[in-house]
Amino acid sequence: MLQTSLVFLLVLSSIQNVVSVPMQVPLGNSLTSSRQRRKLQGRFLHVTDMHPDPHYRPGMSEDSACHRKKPKKTKRRSGDYGMPYSDCDSPVSLTNYTLDFLDKKWSSDIDFVIWTGDSARHDNDRKLPRTTKEIYELNRLMASKMENAFLKKGIPVIPSIGNNDIWPHNIMMPGPNDITFEYSSIWSSFVPFHSFQVFQRGGYYSVEVIPDALAVISLNTMYFFDSNKAVGGCEARDPQDPGNLQFDWLEVQLETFRNRGMQVWISGHVPPSAHNYYPECHIRYVELSLMFQDTILGHLFGHMNADHFFFLDAQVVANSNLNRSSDEPNGLLKKKHSELYDGLLKDFAHMEKRSKKIDHDNFAVVNVAPSVVPNPYLPSFRIFSYNITGTPYIPDLHSDRSAGLSKDVPRYHLGDSEVHSDLCRDSGFSNKSWLCQPSKPWKSNPNSPSRTNTLFTPLGFAQYFMPNLTTTKKSPPKYKLEYMTFSPASLHASAGLEEEMSGNVRYPIPLRHLPRSLRNSTVTKSKYAPYEMRDLTIPSWTDLARRLAKPKHEKLRKTFRKFMYMGAEER
Ligand SMILES: *[C@@H]1O[C@H](CO)[C@@H](O)[C@H](O)[C@H]1NC(C)=O
Ligand SMILES: *[C@@H]1O[C@H](CO)[C@@H](O)[C@H](O)[C@H]1NC(C)=O
Ligand SMILES: *[C@@H]1O[C@H](CO)[C@@H](O)[C@H](O)[C@H]1NC(C)=O
Ligand SMILES: *[C@@H]1O[C@H](CO)[C@@H](O)[C@H](O)[C@H]1NC(C)=O
Ligand SMILES: *[C@@H]1O[C@H](CO)[C@@H](O)[C@H](O)[C@H]1NC(C)=O
Ligand SMILES: *[C@@H]1O[C@H](CO)[C@@H](O)[C@H](O)[C@H]1NC(C)=O
Repeated sequence: MLQTSLVFLLVLSSIQNVVSVPMQVPLGNSLTSSRQRRKLQGRFLHVTDMHPDPHYRPGMSEDSACHRKKPKKTKRRSGDYGMPYSDCDSPVSLTNYTLDFLDKKWSSDIDFVIWTGDSARHDNDRKLPRTTKEIYELNRLMASKMENAFLKKGIPVIPSIGNNDIWPHNIMMPGPNDITFEYSSIWSSFVPFHSFQVFQRGGYYSVEVIPDALAVISLNTMYFFDSNKAVGGCEARDPQDPGNLQFDWLEVQLETFRNRGMQVWISGHVPPSAHNYYPECHIRYVELSLMFQDTILGHLFGHMNADHFFFLDAQVVANSNLNRSSDEPNGLLKKKHSELYDGLLKDFAHMEKRSKKIDHDNFAVVNVAPSVVPNPYLPSFRIFSYNITGTPYIPDLHSDRSAGLSKDVPRYHLGDSEVHSDLCRDSGFSNKSWLCQPSKPWKSNPNSPSRTNTLFTPLGFAQYFMPNLTTTKKSPPKYKLEYMTFSPASLHASAGLEEEMSGNVRYPIPLRHLPRSLRNSTVTKSKYAPYEMRDLTIPSWTDLARRLAKPKHEKLRKTFRKFMYMGAEER
């Protein structure tokens, strides 16, 4: 008891220094060139899959990856800022424009930047094969833009390695190797000194974006991705597999941050779906996500280029078939995005069916952001807003909520899965799957920030896109609000008269970034705000999933689908 309250006091006092208003917080890691003190804004940027292509030329054909060949009159030509809904990568004019825009218009409104990889071209132009040298050069270009736009102002940037940031793509051997050495150099100003050694071995690290209070863990998903044939895929019998080593490290990180009363975002390139990850890596990812549900605010990924969210669901994983063959089909390809939609709706329907019995301890939510590259949709980025008021959530370090809290609801500690108990006793399986390993207690709590709106809880996001890329050098395209998860009313709720008088008004999204219609505080309905989520907690996401699955909500499903494909189907 004594120890707990001591920790509580220590943590409380350190965090309250951080969040009392006005806030003066030293941000940035030890290598940040300027250690400016910035006031917390309660927002961060998620940007992903930029894919700059130095060979892109305007007026060229899609068949040539927008590299050459003027197309016949009837065919589309590449534009000055990219070719929408195409197979082409981004011209540097687009990636420059995007980062300059974020620098000028957004950098004063955000606290940190999550940047989830693929910062080089990825076309398959046989006449212009990609090279390791070019990939690193493009990554250096992007890193230096990021440094100038954000890091120099004291805004931490947390990049991750994408499957197209390495050559050959998807293939990454266990580290330390040339790739991890190269990225420790390219990202030397982003990766904190204390993480350097680990980064050189595995390509993963963590950053305390608000010291002693909030961290971002950047994973190297190449060691989980089932297209990477250079690794073993987290097999339980191979403790030296780089995926297993990464999970061991992640567990220690999460445990340490939890003991310090901190909250954590997890970020990476390839999202942790059963389609993308080796089965055993997926099992370990789900287990750790749920084991530390009271410490993890959310999971932010890229790679798919299509806007969506999905659940890590203990029941589904616990029931997964252990008798799988080792050659599972690879992840969904971009061409098959309608299958992605159908699969998600099936999962949501499954959730709707058992809606009365949802035990939120069994879920984590993964948010996949769409890309900057207009392949196959349109350029976009996301601004998350999070709660910077209130008292910190302090986990009870001495008691864990273990199985059996609620009698009606089965608990799925993956390792104790009843489904597999017979199978796991069988010699052949006992050390074959992580499902057969004894699991540790799960740390979940309905009062934690991932479950209820409190300090550091994500409140919502606004997504911006370029609806019209068909513009010229002289009149560049514009980023516009595509949609947001908030209700229109909540955009104004925090701006009471008193705050207005004192100059401390804090809007979830600054009004100047909103279309005029939403700046009016009397507006209660808007096409930009179809979801009206009260926050981005796990219960809010399961609630949205259930609404999407209800037969009567055809219109909402259409909207969800439209956002996923950025209107590609309506063209
Ligand atoms: C992009 O920005 C970089 C650095 O800011 C600059 O050197 C380069 O010329 C720009 N390229 C284009 C095509 O705008
Ligand atoms: C899995 O394989 C084992 C051994 O071959 C078999 O006894 C068992 O019935 C199988 N289970 C399922 C769910 O297919
Ligand atoms: C793990 O599997 C190997 C190979 O099948 C076997 O030799 C070993 O005894 C097993 N270990 C345990 C603890 O079951
Ligand atoms: C932030 O959390 C506190 C509780 O800690 C709550 O009172 C407050 O309304 C939340 N802020 C927002 C903007 O939702
Ligand atoms: C796109 O922008 C260009 C240049 O501003 C304009 O001429 C064109 O009409 C716009 N297209 C659409 C569909 O809005
Ligand atoms: C806001 O909307 C209300 C109702 O639609 C309208 O009466 C009012 O004039 C609007 N205010 C402004 C500043 O546009």
